[in-house]
Amino acid sequence: MKYPKTKEVLNQLVADLTQMHMVVHQHHWYMRGNRFLKLHPYLDKVMDELADQLDQVSERLITLDGSPVSTLSEIAEKTKIADEKGNWTETIDERYAKIIAGYKYLEGLYEEGIRVSDEEGDYSTNDMLTGFHTDIEKRIWMMASEINQAPTIDPE
Ligand SMILES: [Fe+2]
Repeated sequence: MKYPKTKEVLNQLVADLTQMHMVVHQHHWYMRGNRFLKLHPYLDKVMDELADQLDQVSERLITLDGSPVSTLSEIAEKTKIADEKGNWTETIDERYAKIIAGYKYLEGLYEEGIRVSDEEGDYSTNDMLTGFHTDIEKRIWMMASEINQAPTIDPE
């Protein structure tokens, strides 16, 4: 195998992007409050982006002769993003703070993927992950701004 570490990060991303999509879906459904009409549809765009990244990451892994996790039980076992039951009591700001926390974890995982794919010489995966990392950082900025916070990606 030429790219073992890269493939492991790609499969971790498959599990975590699937879980993140479910977390966003939960908040999209359960949110209530006076910005609902704006923020409920915004999360549709967020989910579209996650689904697109998931499909591309998974297909890159298959292209490298890998086998992506593809069942709920495998994903539950592998993901590092928390699984919590839906509730009607959280504020929209609290929901966005949780989504941002998941995005910060994904940002770090993409960075790890960029690092190991460079180390292993898989420049095609490196290029793909770099673009997705940039998209994730931009979402962190936008969602943090919505709840009056700085992105804190590189605080001064
Ligand atoms: Fe919906």
